[in-house]
This record gives sequence, C-alpha cells and structure tokens, in this order.
Amino acid sequence: MLQSLTIQDFRCIERAELEFAPDTNLIIGPNASGKTSLLEAIFFLGRARSFRTARLGPLIRDGAHELMVTGQVRNGQRTVPVGLRRGRRGAEMRLGGQPLRGLADLTENFPVQILDPTVHGLLDGGPRERRKFLDWGVFHVEQSFHGYWQRYSRALKQRNVVLRSEGGRAEAIPWERELAEAGEAIDSARRVYLQAITPSLEAVASTLLGSGEGVAAEYEPGWAAGESLADALARSWERDRSAGSTQVGPHRGDLSVRLGPHRVQDRVSRGQQKVLAGALVLTQLAEYRRRTGRAAALLADDLAAELDPAFLGRFLELAQSGGSQLFITVIRPENLPETVISSAKVFHVEHGVVGAG
Ligand SMILES: Nc1ncnc2c1ncn2[C@@H]1O[C@H](COP(=O)(O)OP(=O)(O)O)[C@@H](O)[C@H]1O
Ligand SMILES: [Mg+2]
Repeated sequence: MLQSLTIQDFRCIERAELEFAPDTNLIIGPNASGKTSLLEAIFFLGRARSFRTARLGPLIRDGAHELMVTGQVRNGQRTVPVGLRRGRRGAEMRLGGQPLRGLADLTENFPVQILDPTVHGLLDGGPRERRKFLDWGVFHVEQSFHGYWQRYSRALKQRNVVLRSEGGRAEAIPWERELAEAGEAIDSARRVYLQAITPSLEAVASTLLGSGEGVAAEYEPGWAAGESLADALARSWERDRSAGSTQVGPHRGDLSVRLGPHRVQDRVSRGQQKVLAGALVLTQLAEYRRRTGRAAALLADDLAAELDPAFLGRFLELAQSGGSQLFITVIRPENLPETVISSAKVFHVEHGVVGAG
C-alpha cells in the first residue's frame, strides 16, 4: 500500500507531495493535465520503468537533468522507504535505506498493475503479454519462482549460444538439464496458480459480462502435451539449430482464454475484451490479497472513456471489494458511480500541478 509519494521533474510534474488513501484515490483533471503522468510515477516506484514507453529519457521533465520519485510503502506493520532517481546518464535506486540489489526486490515491495486503454492487448496481442501476466501473478505468491526464472534464462542463453556457434549437441546437454529442471518448475507453478484463480476468474467474468457463457483460461506450456521438457528439447535440436534459438519451453508458453466455445481473440468485441482483460487483472489482485494479506495497487487510467457506465460501475465496485489500493483517473467524475466518488480521496490535476481535495 502506497502511503505517500514525492515526485520531482517527472513528465510534466515539476513537484508533488501526496498522501494517499489506502483504498480508493480519484485523480480528476482535463486532457493533458498530467493524470497519466501521475500514474506513471506510481508505477515507476514498483517497476523502475514506464507502462507507456520503453525509454526512460522521455520521463524526465523537459529542461530538467534528472527525475526523482520517492515514497513510503506500507506492508503490514512495516513502512519501507523507496527512492528512485534517474538522470540522463545514470540511476540510483534505494529500498529500505539501502541500495537496491535487484529489480525483483522493488517489485516485491510494491506490487502494482495497470489497466489503461491498451488493456485489450492482453487478449488480442501476442503471447508475451499473457506470459507476463501469468508470471506477475505467480511471482507475487510463490517465493521460489523468481530463482527458477533466473536459472532458466541463464541456461536458455547458453543453449542458444551453442546453437548459433555450430557446437555439438554434447555441449548443450548440461544446459538442457538445467532448462528441463527449472522449466518444469516454472511450468508447474504456473499451472497451480492458474488452477487457483480459475473459479474466481469465472465468477468475476460472468459478473462483469453478465453473460451465461462461461470463461475459461487454459494454459499452453510451450511444448507438446504429454512430453517432458527434456524430451522436447532433445527432439527440437535440429529445428532449433536452423532457427538459431530454442523453440520449446515455458518462454514460449501462452494462455488461451475462451468465452463459451470460442477463443476470445477470434470472437468477442473489443469492449468485451477490455472487460475480460480487466477481469483477469482483478482476479489476480484478489488472489494476491488472499495469499499475502497485502493490498496491491491498481492503476485504472481513463477507463470511463473506454467502458460504458454500467460496466465501469460493476468493475470498480469489484475492484474495491477485492481489497486493492485503487488509483482511478477520470476527466469527468460524473461518469463514475456515486459510490466510488463518495468513498474516494480526490486529487485535482491541472497543468502538471496535483492538489488534494
Ligand atoms: N518529459 C516531459 N516534460 C514535460 N512535459 C511532458 C513530458 N512528457 C510529457 N509531457 C506533457 O505532459 C502533459 C500531460 O500528459 P498526460 O499525463 O498524458 O496527461 P493526461 O493523462 O492528464 O491527459 C502532456 O501535455 C505532455 O505533452
Ligand atoms: Mg491520460
């Protein structure tokens, strides 16, 4: 839970010092006032990156040398200070008063998810987004997961080096052993996780869509069903050699989401896709809450522009009841349900200036 935030020279925000409510925060402002920038700064505190751009340069306010975002994150009884500073040349990140050891610690300390107008990409985009979604969920409830991913990524890189260097199969065998072990662990953690969230995914999706057709999410592991990853790697050797990289394994996994008998990508409207993607994220946040007792942050950017009021109302009420800390941006608050407005702490943004009340 993000208690307080100080922003300096981030996008159009020169300086802001804010105290947030533990449940619902409403950020109101006209177009181009800085609403999304504020959400970006919050996201930055948990991910050290933006959800809008892969480059960090554009985040530094025009004319400034560096940006700074600091905050106090409350986890149960503990309050942990976080601070990130980024100049055009270098960066400094601190967590709990110490230099940051790895990004995983930052992410673990402040879990944050974003729902913005591109959210449907989770369903109609490539498998990468869906893997990231799944792994975000597993990472935050399963401590060993990150270690397996680190081992897996290292071994994958090494096997790919062998593939490209015309090396013989024997050179790849130790890496394949490592890939098989870490990869099977990643695979089974994903399956267990998906199984755990499936009942609430079905319930949330049917509440949101108001549809009789059931929603189902099926995991596709990234190699042939019924085969061990070790066998799949061995069988894929020649193909991988001509491709120059490893074609099987959890880094090729996917999530197939269905509504009734149809794949969501092939069938449902963009509006429904947004709602379904929202359902996936809400389910994940609720699972996080259930497993850790902690509240993750959900950034909901401009959803009133995307969803009709009835959908939006149901969605936000579900988000509130799931126990996440919400940050909702809106141009016209009258587009939000009264229950959300009356329970929220309100911030007004204009020309990059953020004020409470
Ligand atoms: N690095 C930057 N320095 C200064 N202004 C910026 C920077 N990046 C973006 N902006 C400006 O910030 C303004 C607010 O953007 P945004 O947060 O997207 O507004 P909103 O979400 O309220 O519509 C825009 O006018 C944009 O041009
Ligand atoms: Mg915006």
